[in-house]
Amino acid sequence: MTEVLFDEGPHKFILLGFGESSREEGIPSNQYLVVHGAEAAIFDPGGSGLFPILSARISEWVALEKIRSIFLSHQDPDVSAGLNVWMEVTGAKVHLSRLWTRFMPHMDLVHSENLVPVPDKGGTVEVVPGFSLVTLPAHFLHSPGQINVYDPQSKILFTGDIGAAERSNGTIFVDDFAEHLPHIEAFHRRYMAGNRALKKWVREVERHDVAVIAPQHGPLYRGQAREDLLRWLFDLRCGMDFYE
Ligand SMILES: [Fe+2]
Ligand SMILES: [Fe+2]
Repeated sequence: MTEVLFDEGPHKFILLGFGESSREEGIPSNQYLVVHGAEAAIFDPGGSGLFPILSARISEWVALEKIRSIFLSHQDPDVSAGLNVWMEVTGAKVHLSRLWTRFMPHMDLVHSENLVPVPDKGGTVEVVPGFSLVTLPAHFLHSPGQINVYDPQSKILFTGDIGAAERSNGTIFVDDFAEHLPHIEAFHRRYMAGNRALKKWVREVERHDVAVIAPQHGPLYRGQAREDLLRWLFDLRCGMDFYE
């Protein structure tokens, strides 16, 4: 299932998959494509089992070799296991935390020279002239080197595992945060490193004009649900807060 989340002039933000692929055995994941004119970026493409279905869907919008940038929120297998095939087919630069670029060559990457370390404080990445995306720090949520990617044109923030749901009722957007909470609570309490990191992240998000929070798993947040998620995370005790 493909869903166009934003479409204005040459710029489109597309949800490519919503965890419905039978090729995916682990926790269902979302993949995103941002198209600007004839060129594009993708976020967290996942394992190689997803390549056939995702590449077919992307080809409806843009040629695969026009994918200029691949952003990885962190190092996990559900984010990066298929990286080699994506790098070979697209020739894209791969942006991920500087903490992880030096470990990625262990995946026998053919083009490890295309790995681009993202500094701890994040920053603007020019995909091509006239098309830039902004990486925001999200460290310890859950990985020590975690980044989010903000698209200033669509105002969509890709948050990786932050806001991720282990299950969902199948809708693309969260309708009722209270009803949704059981799908995200246990995951965030165990995987997120601590409340200090969450508070810092919520303040970082509030510095930007974010209309939609788009996680790597489960439904997206906008309107009241977006507000409710941020407020819930700001006060959430998790990870080391419980470790004695
Ligand atoms: Fe993860
Ligand atoms: Fe994940």
